[in-house]
Amino acid sequence: MNETLGFLLNRRSIRAYEEREISAEDKDLLLQATLRAPTAGNMLLYSIIEVSDQATKETLARTCDNQPFIAKAPLVLLFLADYQRWFDYFMLSGVAELCRRRGEPLRKPQEGDLYLACSDALIAAQTAVVAAESLGIGSCYIGDIMENYEIHRDLFGLPQYVFPIGLLCFGYPTQGQMQRPMTPRFDRKFIIFPDRYRRLDEADFDEMYRDAQERFARNPDRPDGIANVGQAMYAQKFASDFSAEMTRSVRAMLRAWEAA
Ligand SMILES: Cc1cc2nc3c(=O)[nH]c(=O)nc-3n(C[C@H](O)[C@H](O)[C@H](O)COP(=O)(O)O)c2cc1C
Repeated sequence: MNETLGFLLNRRSIRAYEEREISAEDKDLLLQATLRAPTAGNMLLYSIIEVSDQATKETLARTCDNQPFIAKAPLVLLFLADYQRWFDYFMLSGVAELCRRRGEPLRKPQEGDLYLACSDALIAAQTAVVAAESLGIGSCYIGDIMENYEIHRDLFGLPQYVFPIGLLCFGYPTQGQMQRPMTPRFDRKFIIFPDRYRRLDEADFDEMYRDAQERFARNPDRPDGIANVGQAMYAQKFASDFSAEMTRSVRAMLRAWEAA
């Protein structure tokens, strides 16, 4: 097996870090690799904010569904889907006048543009994860950055066409984190299909969740009134308060993005 596959096959999310800074050289390499990520039309539809202010990290630890380890991460990078930069450039380049001359309405960033910018930002983020791994630096995504849109907009001074799509915490892993067992994945036959989508049936789900269901049944702390893994995942994740907040927040951002 080559070294790159070794890193990928042994990667895990790291949520506790040694108390030492990431060297300037390693950070520079990590960012250099990040900027080499594929990007739609070579447009770099993203921006990255390095969050170094401790008070801001502590705010994020609260606003991202109370995850204290964010405040302890030596390196925190915020990945932003960003169409503002291009739209500002279009405006400065006289595209409003171009549209008037052509008798066309001026097109502003729309939902498709947002999705493409989110793809760009997340592909850059994952490139940073892999680069970090190769430098012995662990990382963890914080999806909850999509919550509290208004607070994060004000905290980072985000204009209309910029949305925080991913937060990454980085640091050298503690011994304990390195010894954690790898999280399991579903068998690939449930995830990777030849040629056409295959909708799973009850027998598939029974097989897919057999191990998780056995662990759930053995767990003495399982919540009252919850009968199985499906109910637990529904209650604890899908129908949780943080999911409701994420939906509210994303809707608020979409309203701002679509505003005239
Ligand atoms: C989009 C996304 C959002 C995530 N958000 C969080 C988060 O808010 N907090 C956290 O501790 N882990 C978060 N994670 C990490 C996942 O929990 C983790 O990848 C998953 O449990 C599998 O574990 P592994 O990465 O160690 O293999 C996130 C991962 C992704 C891809």
